[in-house]
Amino acid sequence: MVEKKLWGGRFEAGLEEWVEEFGASIRFDQRLAQYDIQGSIAHVTMLGKQGILQPEEAVAIQTGLQELLADCQAGRLSFDVSNEDIHMNIESLLTEKIGPLAGKLHTARSRNDQVATDMHLYLKEQLVLVLDKLWKLRETLVNLASQHVETIMPGYTHLQHAQPISFGHHLMAYYSMFSRDSERFAFNRKHADLSPLGAAALAGTTFPVDRELTSELMGFAKPYSNSLDAVSDRDFILEFLSNSSLLMMHMSRLCEEIINWCSHEYQFVTLSDTFSTGSSIMPQKKNPDMAELIRGKSGRVYGNLIGLLTVMKSLPLAYNKDLQEDKEGMFDTVDTITVALDILSGMLQTMTVNEQIMEEATQKDFSNATELADYLANKGIPFRQAHEIVGKLVLDCSKAGHYLQDVPLATYRAISELIEADVYQALSSKTAVERRTSLGGTGFSQVEWQIQTAKTELNQEKSL
Ligand code: ARG
Repeated sequence: MVEKKLWGGRFEAGLEEWVEEFGASIRFDQRLAQYDIQGSIAHVTMLGKQGILQPEEAVAIQTGLQELLADCQAGRLSFDVSNEDIHMNIESLLTEKIGPLAGKLHTARSRNDQVATDMHLYLKEQLVLVLDKLWKLRETLVNLASQHVETIMPGYTHLQHAQPISFGHHLMAYYSMFSRDSERFAFNRKHADLSPLGAAALAGTTFPVDRELTSELMGFAKPYSNSLDAVSDRDFILEFLSNSSLLMMHMSRLCEEIINWCSHEYQFVTLSDTFSTGSSIMPQKKNPDMAELIRGKSGRVYGNLIGLLTVMKSLPLAYNKDLQEDKEGMFDTVDTITVALDILSGMLQTMTVNEQIMEEATQKDFSNATELADYLANKGIPFRQAHEIVGKLVLDCSKAGHYLQDVPLATYRAISELIEADVYQALSSKTAVERRTSLGGTGFSQVEWQIQTAKTELNQEKSL
């Protein structure tokens, strides 16, 4: 049996320790300590201003809280599971500092609006960090793409060689995905930017609180307009988990490609030693572990999203203790995506692109078959017929063990008098890429345009 709780008035018996342990959140919500203190400082400032507390009481509480904040930043706070969560731990530490006056801090407030406030403050700050790391990843991709506008690689559909493309173009596809992610996280900030403080337990309070003031003191855009919604809304966290899931999916796709590219079969890229690991038994191994881990960690982020969606799906208004389950998944997601973003940027910045091998991969294949069909179509042969002719030719070449560019001109002319010597130029993979100048295509000029647009975009965001 343990000592009396802050809520212990109506109880005769205390909790058993193992039951208390089950209900406590301090093991993980201590990460909210600085935000909890920050919220309390705003709250007590308002209580003093509104005459709910005497000015000197408010000042004394504020001073105690400032000291706690300094202790917190210096890592000097220690917490106790018998105080259940971060809110009661902070209050109890304040009581140790300033005595029973600390008990006045909780006037016109509940842990329900308090915890929601902490979560908003925390996530709002983390979103800035995430957006910054995402910006760096996008910049890395643009820089790499600008070095590889004219690097030719096979473009795939069904993981089969389809048509040659620019490696820069391939990278810029990921830039586009990460830019959408960035927009989503930026929008997420709007919903994290609301203050629940003053909603109290669920219904508001009879004290003359100034919710606009606390909202402003904490740097929020405005207070929630419905007290029930304020204490029970976790959409801003779900949006974060959902945005993070999409982000991880994009990172995972890129990592999957990197893993393929550095396999012996492809050899398109070589990862730097600093982002690779060896094998304890096979001396020759150099494994893309970090890329595999990002791919693997997408699972836990999806799990965190599904976990919280499931917690929320049948919750009646307003606060329910189930909501305590919103924290670990969110913290884990913040930790996972921030480090994954750094690792991916680092991996891309330090890898070697084996341009020649990439380009050669487009020469020992039939990825120029569309070029030949287009060539014939340009000469007036209906595309369907051209497709049929080239298909047959590909079959003949496969049987003979050579490629379209190896077919002699005489053979071509036997197929159609319209074919001339310039066919070989059309069949080169570089020409195939260069000519695809339709908007957003892989043609060099289009890739350059994408890169320029992206650079402008990144610069504009930087100055925001
Ligand atoms: N530790 C709780 C949580 O994380 C704080 C709010 C508790 N409120 C309550 N009425 N029990 O959700």
